[in-house]
Amino acid sequence: MIIALLNQKGGVGKTTLAVHLAEVLSRLDKSVLLVDADPQGSALDWAANRPDNPPFPVIGLPKPTLHRELPAIAKNHDFVLIDGPPRVNELARAAIMASDVVLIPVQPSPFDVWAAKEIVDLLREASTFKENLKSAFVINRKIVNTAIGRDVVEALSSYPVPVLKTSIGQRVAFAESAAQGLTVLHTDPSGPASQEIVSLAKELLEL
Ligand SMILES: Nc1ncnc2c1ncn2[C@@H]1O[C@H](COP(=O)(O)OP(=O)(O)O)[C@@H](O)[C@H]1O
Ligand SMILES: [Mg+2]
Repeated sequence: MIIALLNQKGGVGKTTLAVHLAEVLSRLDKSVLLVDADPQGSALDWAANRPDNPPFPVIGLPKPTLHRELPAIAKNHDFVLIDGPPRVNELARAAIMASDVVLIPVQPSPFDVWAAKEIVDLLREASTFKENLKSAFVINRKIVNTAIGRDVVEALSSYPVPVLKTSIGQRVAFAESAAQGLTVLHTDPSGPASQEIVSLAKELLEL
């Protein structure tokens, strides 16, 4: 299964969720590949800073031909996570064409809801070629018990893309663990951030 984390808006959590989902899935004894499709190479930087060897390969493929090159590379893996690029539609399009599932991280802010139109438009365009493509929003950086956290789900309902039940909270553990090339599963394995990521992976597997 090839899963892309996509949103042309930067800073929404594509890289954070891609590396965390890769870690969770590899701990389920699955063969995982993490593909960095962002020219900025943040997932590659994360892997380079990791003190141990990541239990999965991390490769850079920020190319508009990603969808043609990936099948041969992906076939030896149970799960491929694509960490998508901001802005460049050409690369996002290639990532969509390469994927079975597109996860769209959005922050609970009206700006993120409006900006999501861009990726929803690309998905609509791709659906002509890819009938079986699945997609879903995942709320990231939710601040618990705020009205905006609830409102965003309603605002997103104007798009023809479902919102996952699991949302990821605003938790400093995500940034702190990434700074060390690690994940919250290393730095706080039983904490709320880890529980959220594990339940996100479970929901993803049920899609
Ligand atoms: N749930 C979260 N809680 C706290 N910080 C987060 C969370 N998700 C992402 N961040 C931080 O926000 C910044 C942007 O996240 P990143 O994953 O790099 O976004 P993108 O890849 O979409 O540009 C990073 O500094 C990251 O550590
Ligand atoms: Mg990124």
